[in-house]
Amino acid sequence: MYIPEEKISEILTASDIVDVISESVILKKSGMNFFGLCPFHSEKTPSFSVNAGKQIFHCFGCSAGGNAFSFIMKYHGITFPEAVKMLARKYQIIIETQSIDPSMRRTLHLKEGLFRLNKMVMEYYSDSLETSKTADSARDYLKKRELTDQIIGQFKLGFSQDSWESVVTVIKKNKTSRAVALQSGLVLERKQKTGFYDRFRNRVMFPIFDINMQVAGFGGRVMDDSMPKYMNSPETPVYNKSRILYGLHAAKQFCRQKGFVYIVEGYFDFLALFQHGIKNTVASLGTALTKNHVRILKGYAKKMILVFDSDAAGISAAKRSIKVFLKEGVDTRILVLPKDNDPDSYVMKYGQNAFNELAKNAGTVMQFLLQVAIETHGMSVEGRINILNDMKQPLTLIDDSAVRSLYVKELSETLQIDEKAVLEKVKEQYLTQHTKKTSLIEKTKDENKLESDRREEQVLSMMLNYPQILPRIKQSGVIEYFYSEKLKHLAKKIMSIDTDKEAFMTKIMAGMETNEDRELIASFAINDFFLEDDIEVKALSMMNRIIKVRKKQENTLTNKIISAKKGSNSEIMDLLKQKQAEIQQLHNR
Ligand code: UTP
Ligand code: MN
Repeated sequence: MYIPEEKISEILTASDIVDVISESVILKKSGMNFFGLCPFHSEKTPSFSVNAGKQIFHCFGCSAGGNAFSFIMKYHGITFPEAVKMLARKYQIIIETQSIDPSMRRTLHLKEGLFRLNKMVMEYYSDSLETSKTADSARDYLKKRELTDQIIGQFKLGFSQDSWESVVTVIKKNKTSRAVALQSGLVLERKQKTGFYDRFRNRVMFPIFDINMQVAGFGGRVMDDSMPKYMNSPETPVYNKSRILYGLHAAKQFCRQKGFVYIVEGYFDFLALFQHGIKNTVASLGTALTKNHVRILKGYAKKMILVFDSDAAGISAAKRSIKVFLKEGVDTRILVLPKDNDPDSYVMKYGQNAFNELAKNAGTVMQFLLQVAIETHGMSVEGRINILNDMKQPLTLIDDSAVRSLYVKELSETLQIDEKAVLEKVKEQYLTQHTKKTSLIEKTKDENKLESDRREEQVLSMMLNYPQILPRIKQSGVIEYFYSEKLKHLAKKIMSIDTDKEAFMTKIMAGMETNEDRELIASFAINDFFLEDDIEVKALSMMNRIIKVRKKQENTLTNKIISAKKGSNSEIMDLLKQKQAEIQQLHNR
């Protein structure tokens, strides 16, 4: 770690974890903690908790946890130094780059270079659209598409010249490094490696912003019927297609306000809705939505409405995306637009109110799938069997058994097939999907290990919540008696960190070496299930118990070996083997 400790603690002291996490997760206060839906696993009831006093978070569902840095790293999929920089930027703290290690510095440098270049080129495209003589066609095109200047300006639309070297020239003039230029995807290397040429030519340009308003990439549309209709930036170190949603930077506040978000496919769909005041919208840009997309959106809205064209392509896109929404357990509705419309054309023709009215009737995912299946197969005997076959897989994806059984009932009524038979089909399907997983569960659990782990975890929990007992714990030497090497290591680490009462947790967290350690620490620290006044007594009895159990077990083994020595050799061998196995087991913990 090359960023000075003082810097890191300065940043942590300045920041507030509730404030940081609130940017991405909807949090509600309940008792000592704040709760929200975990962005790291799928769930319907909040088990993700944030504690302002301790400045930590912990998910009771998936065990993710840590401090503000850990959250940012995991949420944005970035490294520690990047998280430090991000938080520093938020709280306006300056870190000198010399303090970051060389390879990290290179990555940060590259990313910054990419953002800088993208921003520069965005300005260039946008200036071209506004002032260039050659941009008449683009201005006319956007007029034809009925976008206002206000929207064009807000989303920084632009124009890429009908030339092979416009951006190349911009890049040369600004002395952008070759690596940054190539990695940005804005230019490509010529076959004979004699230089570069522009990727985007003679297109209307859409910059794609990330959630922090930095330009991550671009899309460009031709202005006639030529192919390909759209061209997009490739994946780059700053453009991760499975995470970015077009328009989210502008829409996020409105998604929170309304409590739901419209998900459309295209740039124009997004822009047209936004222009008509429907601002709680994002666009998926034609790619299949990933669980990352859905988890990110969950931080802004509970309910999601997928808006699709009614053509075959729209329907199949809807079917592809639905799975991830079902798995994530979000309230999802499907809005299929009237024939020959996409969101853009519909709202331009009929306006905001008509669109909102239509959206009120958006059906659930299951209703949508059923309707599509009925239209595909018809209601003949054979058709109904096929419908059941289409529906059984999506049904297995619903985790909530009450919800699932309601759908099973509905399906059996619609198809006039006995409910038990429908249920049987769903179970069959479920089993074929889960056979591999179930065999793993059969592993037997070591009861003793569970008990000793629990006791040792409680000691750690006490240490973290009541630092005043640390000297007593140290004095007792109890940590040496821990079975779990992992917990022993953590306990020693806590002891070794020089802490005064101020910012105790912050320092402990900062002192942990791995994310795994931070997760464990957060999970032990989040709950204090002890009473403040009897903590000393409680701690003492817990420590005694740990020491006693350990000593007793060691004694019995040693005694057995001693008495076996008097007997036959094979007996000794057996015991030695047993001892060895136990030692092995200790190491495996
Ligand atoms: P559509 O083909 O539905 O286009 O693609 P659209 O958004 O309605 O575009 P207009 O109205 O004809 O201008 C939906 C989205 O899929 C991506 C784009 O992001 C587009 O907005 N797409 C489409 C591509 O990336 N490449 C393509 O060739 C086509
Ligand atoms: Mn369209």
